[in-house]
Amino acid sequence: MRVAVYPGSFDPITEGHLDIIKRASKMFDELVVLVLINPEKKGLFDIEERKVLIEKVTKNIPNVKVKAFHGLLVNYMKERELNVIIKGLRAVTDFEYEFQMALMNRKLSPTIETVFMMTSAQYSYLSSSSVKQVAKFGGDLNDLVPKEIIDDVVNKILNK
Ligand code: PNS
Repeated sequence: MRVAVYPGSFDPITEGHLDIIKRASKMFDELVVLVLINPEKKGLFDIEERKVLIEKVTKNIPNVKVKAFHGLLVNYMKERELNVIIKGLRAVTDFEYEFQMALMNRKLSPTIETVFMMTSAQYSYLSSSSVKQVAKFGGDLNDLVPKEIIDDVVNKILNK
């Protein structure tokens, strides 16, 4: 069975992430969306909450599983004998960071391959950080995050 892992902080999941999930899930028998801690980012949702939001918006894609993990991505993968990481690339600015991370992951676990998918053009400007800013100042979240979670994002920001 071909299984790939799509890791990220997903704080919260955006339409851009969901687009990658839909497309990647067609390329593999199973896609594990894996919520991890990015120590460089201050979180809004805790990782269990992020997992619940992803489950809410992927419940109709049967070969997608959502997991959360508190350690290194490569350790999650080694323990389960998984070898393929999927990452979305939005623009040149993502490249250097993603390239560095892909090589570090391969250094830590040489059998791992990172496969990059280009984000669809209509989501190329989108990021979880900009979504949080828009929500904080009362902007319209339609087309930025999946409809089913707009209220969750707004409530979390307001009650923070
Ligand atoms: O969505 P993000 O924030 O760009 O995703 C980055 C993430 C969470 C995939 C990355 O920070 C990560 O893999 N965190 C877990 C710790 C780890 O394995 N780091 C990679 C070695 S540099």
